[in-house]
Amino acid sequence: MGELNGRHVLLGITGGIAAYKAAELVRLLRRAGAEVQVVMTRAAGEFITPLTLQALSGRAVRQDFFDRADEAATGHIELARWADLVLVAPASADFMARLAHGMANDLLSTVCLATGAPIALAPAMNRGMWLNPATVANAGLLQQRGVLLWGPGEGEQACGETGPGRMLEPEALLERTKALLANGPLTGVRVLLTAGPTREPIDPVRFIGNRSSGKMGYALARAFTAAGAQVRLISGPVALATPADVDRVDVGTALEMEQAVLEHVDDCDLFVACAAVADYRPAQVAGSKIKKNRDRLELTLTRNPDILAGVAARPRPPFTVGFAAETESVVEQAQEKRRLKGIDMIAANLVGAGQGGFEGDENALTVLWEGGREDLPLDKKEQLAKSLTAIITERYYAKKNPTQDA
Ligand code: CTP
Repeated sequence: MGELNGRHVLLGITGGIAAYKAAELVRLLRRAGAEVQVVMTRAAGEFITPLTLQALSGRAVRQDFFDRADEAATGHIELARWADLVLVAPASADFMARLAHGMANDLLSTVCLATGAPIALAPAMNRGMWLNPATVANAGLLQQRGVLLWGPGEGEQACGETGPGRMLEPEALLERTKALLANGPLTGVRVLLTAGPTREPIDPVRFIGNRSSGKMGYALARAFTAAGAQVRLISGPVALATPADVDRVDVGTALEMEQAVLEHVDDCDLFVACAAVADYRPAQVAGSKIKKNRDRLELTLTRNPDILAGVAARPRPPFTVGFAAETESVVEQAQEKRRLKGIDMIAANLVGAGQGGFEGDENALTVLWEGGREDLPLDKKEQLAKSLTAIITERYYAKKNPTQDA
């Protein structure tokens, strides 16, 4: 699995003989899992063709500020927002000068001015140009403002001279990119997670609930965060502390949980339904406390919506993972449940056979997807969550980049 999976690298290429090395850099970045958007200056086009970079990056190369097709008035702002890193390689003396002085006279310099992402420059120029006091001053100014300078290296130059000014090799630039961006395999991936039980009110003081403790869902939230994901947790009532760096939304009923999920589902890449959602709710909620003045009390229940199936049925659904608790034929029943709900993956556990489950700290899971299965033996929920997160990560990327090595 690539260390840069899901990361967005905007690769700026400026005019210089080292521009030919940008092709190899694009290939390496892509192989590490990054999405690469090339923006080149006009001068760069004299050294390497946009067609080569387009074929390698799999995205149309952006060159002109006033490109009628792409530059829909604010296209440069979109590019600036899209980037997790703006890497300019090679960065010419002219480009450094323009950047140092806040110029926005082509697409690449404008994107650099607009972006909130880190900017790294890989300078490449003749040694005299690099050592010129003007360039030295520009480099100092850029560094003061937080721009990263990767290189240049020393050595033989295209002009026949020897000294500082060589662009770092693509492998070295890849390593620095990884060091800067790769925090975990799910860095940049947004996870929406439901956890805990729901409570379906009968009257102002009573409800129908279930024994879910939320422990598995909360352990998953921690495991996803540790893998670098951004986690939003839609939680039913539980007695658990909010995991660090997790955005928690508290809900009570199944309908509230559905509402919260629908509010956030379009902003997620992965949806994991770990909550024990009540399948039914009282058709009517008594306005005041029901008194025990009757021998018999009948409650009429109404079906709750299936939140998970609803998410899976959306036009452009995220990668969906559900849970199933079965008392027999776990694999067959769970695989059937997966197909019926139209979800990508299901984690099933056998309940009622000393296998752990709802309230305990341990559990065992059989994870199923189209054409695959993995068994996770009885273990602490914390460990199980880590193993499950690793499987989900692998299948998520396998679905997203079917042609790329997972
Ligand atoms: N789920 C949901 N919304 C519901 C019910 C369930 O999102 N209204 C999700 C759960 O979070 C879980 C999965 O669907 O991921 C469980 O499916 P379900 O059909 O309820 O299976 P079981 O709990 O195993 O129960 P049963 O077999 O009795 O249907």
